[in-house]
Amino acid sequence: MFNFFKKTEKRVETEKRVETEKKVIREEDFKDVTPVATYFKNETGVSFDAQTSILRNKLMTFCRQREIESFTKLLQLIHSDKKIKQELTDELTTNETFFYREFKQIENLVKLIKASHSSVRILCAPSATGEEPYSIAIALLEAGVNSSSFSIVGIDINLDALSKAHKAVYKERNVRNLSQSIIMKYFTQTDNKYILNNKIKALVSFKQFNIFDDSLRQLGKFDFIFSRNMLIYFDKETKLKAKAILENLRKNDNHEIFFGHADLF
Ligand SMILES: C[S@@+](CC[C@H](N)C(=O)[O-])C[C@H]1O[C@@H](n2cnc3c(N)ncnc32)[C@H](O)[C@@H]1O
Repeated sequence: MFNFFKKTEKRVETEKRVETEKKVIREEDFKDVTPVATYFKNETGVSFDAQTSILRNKLMTFCRQREIESFTKLLQLIHSDKKIKQELTDELTTNETFFYREFKQIENLVKLIKASHSSVRILCAPSATGEEPYSIAIALLEAGVNSSSFSIVGIDINLDALSKAHKAVYKERNVRNLSQSIIMKYFTQTDNKYILNNKIKALVSFKQFNIFDDSLRQLGKFDFIFSRNMLIYFDKETKLKAKAILENLRKNDNHEIFFGHADLF
C-alpha cells in the first residue's frame, strides 16, 4: 500500500517536470517591454527609458524563474498579486549604498543639529539597506550629541532592502569608509561580517513607503531630510514631483533637503 503511494507521487513529480520542460520560452512573448516599464514608472517613479534592453533581460529572467510565460501575463499578475508586485519592485530598484558615503553632508547635518539646541526628527528617504541612517546616528554620537535629542526614520520601497536594514549585518565593502576605531566601537566582527550594535540599531526605525503614496503624510514632519541617490532614477518631471513631496515633509521651509550631487539636474 505504502509503496503504491510512493510510486504514484514519483510519477506525478516526473510528469510535472516534463510539463515544465515542455514550456518553451517564445521570444515574441517577451518582445515589448514598454507596458511593464510604463507601469513600473507610474508606480515608483523609476524610469528605464534609456535602458530598455537591460530591463528586458532582467524581466525575462524574473519571468523565467517564476514560469510566467509572457510580459502580458506578468502585467496581469502584478495587478492581482501583491507578492509578485513586491518581488518585481525589489528586483528593479537599485540599493547600492555604504557607510559614511558623502561624509561631508553628514558633517554638515551634525553641525546644524548641534546648533539647533532642541530635539530633532530626521528622515532618510530612501534608506535602502540602512547604512545612511545608521551613519547619521553614529556621526551624531561621535560628535557628542545625546541620543535622546534625535530620532531617525528610514523609508524605502524595497522590502528586501528594509529587511537587511533591520538585520544590520554588513560586509566589508559596506564599511569600507569607516575607520578601524569606529568599527571596533559600533560593530561586532565575525567571519567577515560586521554586525551593528543594538545601541545604534535602536536609534533608527525603518518603514516601507513609496514616496509617491499619499500615506507618506502619516510620517508627520521632519526637521532634516536626507534624500540621496533616489531621484537619479527618475525623469525630470518625476524628480520635480518627488522634490515637492519631500519639501512638504519639512517642518521648516528654510531647511534645505540633502540631495545627492547627481540627483537634481
Ligand atoms: C541607491 S539607493 C540610495 C540609498 C542611500 N540614500 C544612499 O544614497 O546611499 C536608492 C533607493 O531608492 C529606493 N526607491 C526608489 N524609488 C522609490 C520610491 N518611489 N519610494 C521609496 N523608495 C524608492 C530604492 O528602493 C533604493 O533602495
